[in-house]
Amino acid sequence: MIDLRSDTVTRPDKGMREAMYRAEVGDDVFGEDPTITQLQDTVADLLGKEAALFVPSGVMANQLGVLVHTQPGTEVIVERRSHIPNYEGASPSWLASVQLCPIDGERGILNPDAVRSAIRPGNYGQPATSLICLENTHNLAGGIAQSVEQLQAITDVAKEYQLPTHLDGARLWNAGIAQDVPFRAFASLFDTVSVCLSKGLGAPVGSLFCGSKESINKAHALRKRLGGGMRQVGILGAAGLYAIQNNLERLAQDHANAKKLALAFADLPNFSLNLDDIHTNIVYVDVLAPLTVSSVLSALEKEQVYLIPTGPNTIRAVTHLDVSERDIDQTIHVLHRTFGPHAIAT
Ligand SMILES: Cc1ncc(COP(=O)(O)O)c(C=O)c1O
Repeated sequence: MIDLRSDTVTRPDKGMREAMYRAEVGDDVFGEDPTITQLQDTVADLLGKEAALFVPSGVMANQLGVLVHTQPGTEVIVERRSHIPNYEGASPSWLASVQLCPIDGERGILNPDAVRSAIRPGNYGQPATSLICLENTHNLAGGIAQSVEQLQAITDVAKEYQLPTHLDGARLWNAGIAQDVPFRAFASLFDTVSVCLSKGLGAPVGSLFCGSKESINKAHALRKRLGGGMRQVGILGAAGLYAIQNNLERLAQDHANAKKLALAFADLPNFSLNLDDIHTNIVYVDVLAPLTVSSVLSALEKEQVYLIPTGPNTIRAVTHLDVSERDIDQTIHVLHRTFGPHAIAT
């Protein structure tokens, strides 16, 4: 089976499981888990932040960002297709009593003037803007890796208005590796940053919320309130540390695999995509008539190749740790045989 549905489907390998088995643990609610402490220090250092807090998921890390920076009745600026307004169950309104102000980006990238004109001081009925959130890489825009300069164009606007900023860096690792830029160069632009261990890095569980000591102290209390205080969680932390030590640099291989797959799709008659948008490990492909999304996905499933539908005419493939270059070659072979110019119509 070649599972290209998401980079979240990876399973811990032997080395990671051994690291988990050997993990020294303690009660992390008492701050006594040495493995979690080491993981938090390691990630804070990689991102050039004062402190980091281990949390179960990327959603919790992002929502800590919203809760730490905002006040009820205010408004948060987000890119319209980013994760926070689309896939986090309206948590900002549910948990923080704020509303979102989504702005259209160009391939996920916000325009500084558009952000400037969306900022509201808050008077009478108008909610005040309390936070700006960005996402890098941008998932729905196709794993686009925004540059430090592109992000800074927005964080400069935030500074102009003295607004805090949060970066959803679920795949910040991919952005850094793709651009050969230190992770801290991105992270230093933002007040707080969330990063995930359970996507390209291949750990089974875990994200970190990173920022100043003051933000992390606040987040620590909020995490407890959300039910996210965990006990001998170093077992999971060991997987995260192992992932950082062993699986960061190899993200370049996922990016090369995604590019190879994208080139193959682009060569086929009934598929369309913009090769310039393939920066990292995510490939969105438009399916053209007479093919349909469901006919394509079921034909691939018969060959044990799994992608997901992401719109009426769009499918997505994501490369990751459990997909080798050989798997990509095999997928390309299946694509040619099934959808190439000489294929029998499906
Ligand atoms: C950009 C982005 N942010 C946040 C998340 C949330 O992560 P989690 O599934 O760990 O809650 C995801 C999940 O895919 C994501 O793609």
